[in-house]
Formats: sequence, C-alpha cells, structure tokens
Amino acid sequence: MTDSRTMNSAPSITRLVDYEAFPFAIDSVDLTFALDPTRTRVTQSSVVRRIMKGQHALELNGKNLNRISIKVDGAEIEADRLVEIDETLMIRQVPDEFHLEIETEINPEANTALEGLYLSNGMFCTQCEAEGFRRITYYPDRPDVMSIFTTRIISDASHPVLLSNGNPVSDQLLPDGRREVVWRDPFPKPCYLFALVGGDLAVKHDEFVTMSGRCIDLRIYVEPKDLDRVDYALQSLKRAMAWDERVYGREYDLDIFMIVAVSHFNMGAMENKGLNIFNSSCVLANAAAATDQAFQRIEAIVAHEYFHNWSGNRVTCRDWFQLSLKEGLTVFRDSEFSADTNSRAVKRIQDVNFLRSAQFTEDSGPTAHPVQPSEYQEISNFYTLTIYEKGAEVVRMIHTLLGAELFRKGSDLYFDRHDGQAVTINEFVDAMGEVSGRDFSQFMRWYQQPGTPRVRVDIEHDQNTETLTIQLAQKSPVIAREDSHKPYAIPVRYQVIDQQTGDVLVPETLFELTEEVASITCAGVSARPVVSILRGLSAPVKLEMDRQTSDLVALARFDDDGVNRWDAIQELYMHAIQEFLETPEANLDASLQQLICDLIRDPSSISDPACLSEMLTLPQDNILWDALQPTDPQKILEARKRLRQRIALAGSSMWRTLFEAMRVAGPYQPSADAIGRRSLAITALGYMAKVESIDHLILDIEANASNLTERYAAYRIARSDASESVSLELSQRFIDRAETDEVLDLWLSTEAVNENTATVDRIKELTSHPRFAWTNPNRVRSVLGAFANRNVKAFHTPDGYRLLADSVLKLDAMNPQIASRLVMPLCQWGRFESTFQEQMKAELRRMAAKDLSKDLYEIVSKSVD
Ligand code: BES
Ligand code: ZN
Repeated sequence: MTDSRTMNSAPSITRLVDYEAFPFAIDSVDLTFALDPTRTRVTQSSVVRRIMKGQHALELNGKNLNRISIKVDGAEIEADRLVEIDETLMIRQVPDEFHLEIETEINPEANTALEGLYLSNGMFCTQCEAEGFRRITYYPDRPDVMSIFTTRIISDASHPVLLSNGNPVSDQLLPDGRREVVWRDPFPKPCYLFALVGGDLAVKHDEFVTMSGRCIDLRIYVEPKDLDRVDYALQSLKRAMAWDERVYGREYDLDIFMIVAVSHFNMGAMENKGLNIFNSSCVLANAAAATDQAFQRIEAIVAHEYFHNWSGNRVTCRDWFQLSLKEGLTVFRDSEFSADTNSRAVKRIQDVNFLRSAQFTEDSGPTAHPVQPSEYQEISNFYTLTIYEKGAEVVRMIHTLLGAELFRKGSDLYFDRHDGQAVTINEFVDAMGEVSGRDFSQFMRWYQQPGTPRVRVDIEHDQNTETLTIQLAQKSPVIAREDSHKPYAIPVRYQVIDQQTGDVLVPETLFELTEEVASITCAGVSARPVVSILRGLSAPVKLEMDRQTSDLVALARFDDDGVNRWDAIQELYMHAIQEFLETPEANLDASLQQLICDLIRDPSSISDPACLSEMLTLPQDNILWDALQPTDPQKILEARKRLRQRIALAGSSMWRTLFEAMRVAGPYQPSADAIGRRSLAITALGYMAKVESIDHLILDIEANASNLTERYAAYRIARSDASESVSLELSQRFIDRAETDEVLDLWLSTEAVNENTATVDRIKELTSHPRFAWTNPNRVRSVLGAFANRNVKAFHTPDGYRLLADSVLKLDAMNPQIASRLVMPLCQWGRFESTFQEQMKAELRRMAAKDLSKDLYEIVSKSVD
C-alpha cells in the first residue's frame, strides 16, 4: 500500500451541512520552488490574519509532503503545537496576525497520480483542482480561501521555460548558475487555480485586442516537436475571447494568457489563472494529424477553459458542493459558443445524445447524485456527467425561462456583484431571480433532487370540436423513493404540425409544468395534428409517450426543430430493434424504409448534411439498454446490426451517390460546413460497405486523403467491412503513419473496439504495445476505456469483466482518479439480465475485498453491497 491509498474501513464523509467559513484570511502567499525531479524544495511564506473571534487553531492541509520546517513569525513551531491527522495539520495557539513560513520537499518523479507537481516527458507541471495543492505545501486547500500569489521558480538550464500564474515580474541568473523567474498574479484566487510549468518548451505567440483596447499577449507552449499543431487552438482562443465579450460583455483581465500542452493529464484541460494546462490531445491539431471531431473538441475545450476566467476564477465556488456553479455554467457557455460558431442544430443533437446516453445512465445507477450533492467521500469522483451536463441543462432551462436578454442581465448582476468572491449556486440563481422577478424556489429542486424525472404525454384530438388536448404528467425519477420526490418546474416547449403536410398548426409555445399534472388545450385544430414536444429537449427529462409510426415519420420529415426530427427517427430505430429482438427475420417497416430513401435520395435537397448524418446514425447501446432493460447486451448488439444491414439494403445504390455528392474537394477546412459534408459522406460509405465490396474505394481514399478524417474513416470501415487482407493492410498502414500520440490513440482505440478482432487477448496485446504506458491516462483510455465502453462483444463476457477489474486494480496503485473512472462500466450491472449482473457483481466484490484508494473504494462500495 502506497501512502496515497487508504484503508477500506471508515471512509470519511464530507457534508454540505457541515460547511464552516475559514476563520483566517491569507492576505498573500509567496512560493519558492527549487525544481528538482526527485527533491523539489517548496518554501511558502504567507501573511495570515484571524478574521473570526475565538481561539481557532490554524487548519492546513497536506498530503505526501516531506515536512522540513514550519515557522510562525520566524520561530520554529514546537512539536506539541502541531497535530497532523490524515490530510489535516493543525497549528494551535497562533497569534491574530502573523507570518507563516513553511518548507516542504516533494518528489515530482514519483508522482504517478498526476495531482500536485509532477513530471510529464521531463516537463514539470501541476494540477491542483480539486485538492492537489495540498501535495505541494501545507495550506488551507479549500476554494473559499483566496489570496494573492507570487511564485518564484529556480531551475537549472535544462528547464529554460518557467511559468506560473499572472504577469512576469523578473528573470535573473543566480550566482550559482541557476535561473530564477518570478511571477505575480494580482487577482486573489483559491489555491486550486495555482499552476507552475518548467520545461524545454517551444512557443507560438499571437495577440488579442480587447473591447476596451488592451492588447493581450497570447501564447501556446508545447514540446518542440508539436509546434506545427498549435494554430487551431490559438484561433479558437481568439474566437472565444471575442464571443465572451460580445455575448456576455466579459473582457480578459491579465496582460498575458498562456496555454501549455502536456502529455500526461487526468482530465481534458484546466483553467488555472492566466496559465491553462491542457491535455495535449485537447490542443494539438492539424489536417494530417487530427480528425474533424478533434478539431471541434479542441475549439470547445479552449473556449471552456477560457470562459472559466469569469465563471470560475473571478467568481469562484465557496466549496466543492458548488462545483456545478462553475462547471454547469461553463459547459452551458461553451456549448452556446460552439452552437454560434458552427451549426446550432447539430451541436444540440450531439449534446442531447450525450446527455441521454451517458448522464441519464449515471442518474439511474448506483452513483446517482444531485447537481448540488449533499455529501462525498472523494471530491475527484464528483466531476461527473451530472455536475457538468445536467448542470448545464439546468442553466439552459433558466435561459429558456428568462429569454436571452434577461439572462444576460442576470449574468451581469451575478458577475458584478460577486466579483472576487467564492459563492454558492444560490447566489447565481438569486441574481437570475432578481432581474426577472421570478420565484425560483421550486426550480431549485433541479439542483437538489437526483435522478431523471419522467414526463408522460397523452394527446386527444376531437375532430368535431377541432380541439387538441395535450395532457402532461410528471413522474418521479426511477431511482427516487416515492415520498422523497417533489414536482419540478419543467419548461415544455411545443409546437403542433399537420401530419400530412407538416404545416404549423400551433406555433412554438413555452409551457411551464409545475404541478404533477396539467393539460394544454389548442382550439381550431382541424387537420390531423402531430405534437412536437420538449423541443430542443427543453428539460432534461425522459419522455413517455405512445407515438405511432405515422406520427414519428411526420416529425422526422417535417419538424423544424433539429433535435425532435432526429429524436423521431431514433425512436423509429428503437421500435425496429425491438422488433428484431423478437423476430430476427422481420422486415424493416415500410414507412421507415420509405423515409430513409426519401432522406437520402436527392443529395441536392439536403440543407444540413451534419444533421442528416446524425439522423442516419443508430442509437447507441447505452440508450437501448436503458429503454429495453434488463437486457442481454449481446442480443441487442445483434439486433442493432440487423437493423444496420436492413437500412443499408434499403438505400442500396443511393449510398454511393450520396457519398460521391458529399465528398469535399480542395484543401482541408475544419469549417462546420465541410465537417458536416464529410460526416455524411462517411456515414454513407459505412452503409455502402454493407451492400457492396468497397476494398478498392477504401484503398483509394486512404492513399489520397488530404486529411486524417477521411484516412481514419477508410481504416475504420475497412476494419469492420473490408476483406481480411485489406482490413489488415489498412490497420498496419495507419499505425505505421501514426507519428503523434493522438493518432496512435485513434489506432489503439479502434483496434480495441473492433468486433472482428478485438478479443480479450488482443486487448492484452495492445497494452503490451511498445508505445503503450500504464502511466499515461490517454493510452489507458484509448485501450481499456474504449474496450469497456464500446466493445460490447468482448467486454460483456466473464473474461472481459475480469480483464477490466484486473486493469483497474493495477491502475489504482498508480493513479486512483483514472482507476475510479475506468471502473464505471462494471457498475452499470443494473440494466442487464441476471447472468451478466452476477458476473459483473462478482468482479466488483473481488475488488471491494482489496485495499483500494479512497477514490476507487467510494465507487466500488456504492455499486455493490
Ligand atoms: N476544471 C476542469 C478540469 C479539472 C477537473 C481538472 C477536475 C482536474 C480535476 C475543467 O474546466 C474542465 O471541466 N475540463 C473538462 C473539459 C470541458 C470541455 C468540459 C475536462 O477536463 O474533461
Ligand atoms: Zn470546467
């Protein structure tokens, strides 16, 4: 057992109701780092002041620190005034105002948890959110303690680039030949936003002139080999800065904004003040080495971290129960940015699909929790889809209820009133309530109650009176006990169209469902009406509605809401899959077949290829499991494949026409338009491969592609549908040309999910690949994450479950955060038939009996009794 792990007994629980303000203020913190791979010296010099009466001891946090000295006003503290229990160090009997000096020594090289100060390819870097700063020095490691940080970094010539938050102050050679660089951040911040980087890095500069005319120095630092892949992130950053000024009136505050790319990173990226640190996979892109999806992800993440400068940094969280205050709001902001920059409909379809397939799953499983949790064991486990995606949906509902203008007034009030403060979710909602005069007390249940509420919709149409009645009933989430659930305030956006013509009979209207039941009456509806309900997914609920095929077909043809058009055809697919489960030889419903043919027949009539591509993509396994549980995942897989084959046959030669029509000529552009066309072309190619031999075409695409998106598609489709020789050849060619880690990861994940070849033995072989490393989270996610989440055939077997459990145990000793994320697929046993359930639970129990990290213990123990 290493010191970063803990015993299974008596997990300590942190509770929201126990929150107490910190009795001291830290007016300033001066940090000095003498960088060394195994023995970095950290000296902290802080000014501390008592702000609450009473003889409180000073409580600091520390973890894995080698304590050298602790001085109060220059005098070493006697041992009997220090009490260290777990991660808390108490200094008793401190004066009202004093100078605290602490010296610690840490070992970045041994730090495989990637929290605190660690090394990535020889580069020093930090990750402090949520509680990583305590691995650097003893400090009140909580977001409500904000201070002015000055950082002094001392290093030899092997690390010429030395960075920290804020503005550069000085840079000098020391008498001993080492260099000393000083940075000062004038904005008070919590320690989770602290960052330090030291390495041999290359940089690309740019600049941005703000709305008040200040010129900001923008820089992206990367390993020298990666310098030809930073342009897109720089452009994205400038677009994000301009958008935040235009849409939220928020201007950047420091004179310099830096992004650093690192190879070893637990998450996607981190918003440290003035010095964002990014997983290299979320910054680096060029046409030859990144797919369209990677370009879009990079644009979104660069924007997300930049937006945190206001929603998170200038106004931060009081405690970690408020995490969604910054993450939910910032995800909402970045998704609106992406919608404005690319296609709004496509972005919303993708977000809704992700929410339903991933967050709804979490919300009905053993780790379900409210957007504002009331307790946790390990905060790292609460960076969840619920905090992020559901949190963003809750902010979106506020936006829907208020409208853009009032929402902006509310955000102005929130940012201005709380600038420089650490606040709670209530402060945000209060600002929205104040500008609108709305009462948000019922609405707050979205933050407090876990689970996904259901909305039952029944339609009655009376031909004689020409009256349409829409009956709405909200039902509690499946996980909730009946008595614990109180009704939500649910914004329901709807529209009514004519089933035959698609003409709008009742224009889009917003209804607020606040009671258990309600009904909406529409007069003058003579034609056969079809109701488009919860448009754009106006609330994160599950819709329960018995819809006839003819109605769904009408919505899929005519609805002018992209999400509902897509949703209608997804439900038709679901019905088809259900039918194939019962009758494998069943035919495809004629009207669905006709619909698909009509959608793809005339490429010139396709106005939004990306939307159509989404419509032609079948529901993910997760969605099917949720709707059809308890399931045999292998049977679902077969039924889904059958549907895919039938659709391919229905389209027959039209797929080739569509593919040809959508191919994009000319130099590569990651524009929304070009990305949409490529996406549809590749979808068509995938279906084509199911009806004819495409060996030649695929070899040709691979050889002549001007970009990775097409080259990758050729490889991927070859791997599932080409002849064995072409499949093997393209796999080999892809890895042979995989110079960057990001392309390597594409290959690893594609190999790990490939149904034809990715057996458990093949997965083990991939983890022995010379370029695989257990200490690099990106490699682990590419092989094991992809295997467990996307290779149903091999994962949902006793050997598959065992492989995941063994891998999780192995990882837990190195990187608990990665281990506790990787284990999640095993925790979803509730949706499967009993044989699968028992096998999954057996693995969880086997793990539970071992000595686990706090992170993994919390997840495993919540998932199995
Ligand atoms: N603050 C987080 C990153 C973070 C969270 C680092 C927890 C360490 C521990 C950051 O702003 C974030 O949310 N990043 C996301 C990407 C974003 C686009 C949703 C991530 O890293 O996945
Ligand atoms: Zn974030």
